[in-house]
Amino acid sequence: MTDLMEKIVSLSKRRGFVFPSSEIYGGFGSCYDFGPLGVELKNNIKKVWWDEMTKKHDDVVGLDASILMSPKVWEASGHLTAGFADELVECKKCHHRFRKDFIKEKCPDCGGSLTKPKKFNLMMKTFVGPVEDEASETYLRAETCQGIYTNFKNVMQTMRLKIPFGIAQIGKAFRNEINPKDFIYRTREFEQMEMQWFCEPKTAPKFFDYWKKQRINWYLSLGIRKQNLRAKEVPKNELPHYAKRAVDIEYKFPFGWQEIEGIHNRGDWDLSNHSKHSGEDLKYEDYFPYIIETSVGVDRSLFAFLCDAYQEVKGGRTKTTKAAKELEVLLKLHKSLAPVKIAVLPLVKNKPELVKKAKEIYNLLKPHFVCQYDETGSIGRRYRRQDEIGTIASITCDFQTLEDDTVTLRDRDSMKQERVKIKDLIECLRKQL
Ligand code: GAP
Repeated sequence: MTDLMEKIVSLSKRRGFVFPSSEIYGGFGSCYDFGPLGVELKNNIKKVWWDEMTKKHDDVVGLDASILMSPKVWEASGHLTAGFADELVECKKCHHRFRKDFIKEKCPDCGGSLTKPKKFNLMMKTFVGPVEDEASETYLRAETCQGIYTNFKNVMQTMRLKIPFGIAQIGKAFRNEINPKDFIYRTREFEQMEMQWFCEPKTAPKFFDYWKKQRINWYLSLGIRKQNLRAKEVPKNELPHYAKRAVDIEYKFPFGWQEIEGIHNRGDWDLSNHSKHSGEDLKYEDYFPYIIETSVGVDRSLFAFLCDAYQEVKGGRTKTTKAAKELEVLLKLHKSLAPVKIAVLPLVKNKPELVKKAKEIYNLLKPHFVCQYDETGSIGRRYRRQDEIGTIASITCDFQTLEDDTVTLRDRDSMKQERVKIKDLIECLRKQL
């Protein structure tokens, strides 16, 4: 693990962003749980994406389809055949299994020789109903978009839509990855945010370029640094089985450039195959619409946002407190993503009037913003604790507060402090956040 990666994993655990799943039992197969701050960050990412898709764009509507679907869906989509399989090799000595494209000639664990590659399907099998026989076998969905295709007509008719239009969805997906790795980068259970844009075939290239640009701008508008983001055309021989064209939006993680989102021209692959397998005519007028898809992992983009926001300042940014001599960590998350927006801090905790006043302010703000109240340790230390989790503003209640009902409002990035009247706080914070 790289140094930066270790620091981010450690911060995630220490400050309640991400915990290993079933940790008291030693963890479980690369599954992770999102803690109090992680779930706020995740919800913020999902909200910003949802608003971007369904509010900013005309004719994009939402859907929430079930995770369990008829197994026929996965026959039609091509996920049960070789198209959705990775090549797996096994070590003849220790029997550990690896994805062929991740390793060279020998077993990375014991140096043993490897078997010939064989195809390994990534669909997660499960049983529906009380009888564990073949009739009740189905799969956890491997991509959320199939629920969009099976509802194409329902949505179009109920919302009286005309092509072009889009359907957006956020939800869990599951893949039996051979080598889950790199913290929450590749896991077996993850969440996707997918938008499927249905259009006339001849307009597909134009919309592909449009959505690609939109998606790149989304990351930049949320503060991802330009030098850490790139778009890579997927070569023809590496295209997913459903795609005519694909571009990966990649982020420069501590372990190298890796995909965070796929933009796909899926042509008429999905609607024509579902028509054939279900017998339902899924044409629009007399043709199958082409589909342009944007597909991003919530967990993977969260990881990218964390990496990009993480900054260290040797010796600290302030020179006035003892804490300043240490290494300072700053999580410069965009204001719409930061899990905690405001911290409320009494200057000292041994003055009951100050503590009382600070708690009143906390209760005043809590219904409007995600807030934290903290009275433990020196004020410098408390600012640092908040900077480390990306809190946008800290409000300090001091002796002057008791005299004139004003507080100091400290900005995370500039560390500038201004005095604000308590009665103006909500208004003032609304403007900033
Ligand atoms: N519907 C198209 C589709 O699923 P994909 O490129 O296989 O395309 C899209 O996946 C996105 O879903 C990826 O860019 C990534 O962000 C996320 N994703 C896929 N597999 C993942 C995994 N095992 N762990 C975490 N995220 C994953």
